[in-house]
Amino acid sequence: KGVNDLDKVVLREVRGSSAEVYLYGGHVTSWKDEHGDELLFVSNKAIFKSPKAIRGGIPICFPQFSNFGNLEQHGFARNRTWCVDNDPPPFPVPTSNTAYVDLILKPTEEDLKIWPHSFEYRLRVALSPGGDLMLTSRIRNTNADGKSFSFTFAYHTYFKISDISEVRVEGLETLDYLDNLQDRARFTEQGDAIVFESELDRIYLGTPSKIAIIDHEKKRTFVVRKGGLPDAVVWNPWDKKAKAMSDFGDDEYKRMVCVEAAAIEKPVTLKPGEEWTGKLELSAVPSSYYSGQ
Ligand code: BG6
Repeated sequence: KGVNDLDKVVLREVRGSSAEVYLYGGHVTSWKDEHGDELLFVSNKAIFKSPKAIRGGIPICFPQFSNFGNLEQHGFARNRTWCVDNDPPPFPVPTSNTAYVDLILKPTEEDLKIWPHSFEYRLRVALSPGGDLMLTSRIRNTNADGKSFSFTFAYHTYFKISDISEVRVEGLETLDYLDNLQDRARFTEQGDAIVFESELDRIYLGTPSKIAIIDHEKKRTFVVRKGGLPDAVVWNPWDKKAKAMSDFGDDEYKRMVCVEAAAIEKPVTLKPGEEWTGKLELSAVPSSYYSGQ
């Protein structure tokens, strides 16, 4: 089989951590620590083929987040089959022992009918020797007609957690957010951390580059670091919405939370020949090691 006929690429790191990337969606579907513990949530009902995006892992929302535009919800990148990029232009050289794969997405003739912009989207997925997962997106405007384009974006990460009632998200306190459950009205966060007691679907604006998801029961903290992505979406569908999703189990909302590094409020604009970089770095550490700094 040629490498682009594969369903997925598996990255393994010498100390035992691993990650899996589906060519369908350029979608990370698994990230395991050195003990083989899964760190990302994927629904038992997920469908791993077109036309639905895979429910869980890290869907890539491009060139549109949610319904901020006329395209299908969250754009089309998550519903396309990407190629392995065997000849990527120079990225910063990864440190030794970093396992990585480079993927590329270019629009088809059909895509150009729904979004008339030619682009090259290069995605590197890398696993560091310590087991950190790093995603780097480089999107270039290759329009020959001299036209700029704008897009919104999110790494729609589904974290696997012990129980939603045991989790809090730190780093978003005092920030403004748009509440997707209230016609995107703007509010200011009042709590000193986000906790979950019902459906929550918010776009936090102008967030710090580091956000922590603290799982008290598991005594594990996920640290999200991001670059080029000012916003952060926090989402849990809770029971009613869970029941309404055909590719999501009724009780699965208890075991997941989405914290999504994103660029939404101010779309990214690229002139022809310009390139944008958006980075996501995830680590999972025992909460006792996490100082909050
Ligand atoms: C979140 C949105 O990012 O994605 C939610 O804020 C949405 O409003 C959720 O429900 C899931 O979207 P989808 O298209 O994958 O079902």
